[in-house]
Amino acid sequence: MKNTDNEIIEKILKLKSSRKAVILAHNYELGEVQDIADFVGDSLELSQNAAKTGADVIVFCGVHFMAETASILCPAKTVLLPDMDAGCPMANMITAPQLVEKKKELPDAQVVCYVNSSAEVKAESDYCCTSANAVKVAQSIDAKEILFVPDQYLGHYVSTRTDKKIHFWPGYCPTHARIRPEDILRAREEHPQAKVMVHPECRPEVIQLADEVLSTGGMLRYARSASAREIIVGTELGIIYRFRKENPGKVFIPASEQAICPRMKLITLEKILWSLEEMSPEVIVPEPVRARAKRAVDRMLEIGS
Ligand code: 13P
Ligand code: SF4
Repeated sequence: MKNTDNEIIEKILKLKSSRKAVILAHNYELGEVQDIADFVGDSLELSQNAAKTGADVIVFCGVHFMAETASILCPAKTVLLPDMDAGCPMANMITAPQLVEKKKELPDAQVVCYVNSSAEVKAESDYCCTSANAVKVAQSIDAKEILFVPDQYLGHYVSTRTDKKIHFWPGYCPTHARIRPEDILRAREEHPQAKVMVHPECRPEVIQLADEVLSTGGMLRYARSASAREIIVGTELGIIYRFRKENPGKVFIPASEQAICPRMKLITLEKILWSLEEMSPEVIVPEPVRARAKRAVDRMLEIGS
């Protein structure tokens, strides 16, 4: 770590305490960002944490929909996203007017939106879900048909775990789509003793080849408890930092070196400091969108993980 980094960290910590702020970071964030966070987790854990924090300010080190979810749950708090360009491309693959049109075609379906969606899309949905609880949310819904947006691959994975009819939206994560079945096959050949865990945003052909299909939080728990010494990882590369830090005796093999989410890497220590100094950029979800979106998020939090 550079001296300048140490100076920045010191300033962040001082400001964090004078502003009564908490720093929440997603598992894909840069290692140095994870290290200064009060809490690092998956989307569900981050929203659970945001909902219960006593801090006045939440500095969200993740992508835009995550900060929006915090704002939906905590309207009285200031939610800062240190770089407004940190958006999730999959979340931008559906708009609220498009969803409204689709709902007209499927009047009997309940709408489940993946948390990787805008507040406006959440406001048009019946339930929200994350990768940690998508199957449980779908199973708990009292309806035979579900319109699942925007991730077609997570939707497909859910459809293999319930007997409900699932209608898909053609969205996908460009980062996870880069992981190919041949990557898993090659990694298995090179590491025959290894277990393979992948994220449910991966293509169905990749999921089919995995031993475990888990959210990033689920992967961290699996990495700690599995007896396997070698684990092949089919998700965004930022999480490898935490796997290695928490499990020094184990070997983690990225399924693909291409699985990088550039938007997650936009949050840096410099930007966190600047954001706390300026108390900007702030993510605010306007009422009544917030109130309608909160219904879907609250239903998800009640169902849990
Ligand atoms: P998790 O909720 O599993 O951390 O996933 C979030 C995400 O954006 C995955 O690409
Ligand atoms: Fe969005 Fe994929 Fe990046 Fe997750 S990894 S934030 S789904 S683009």
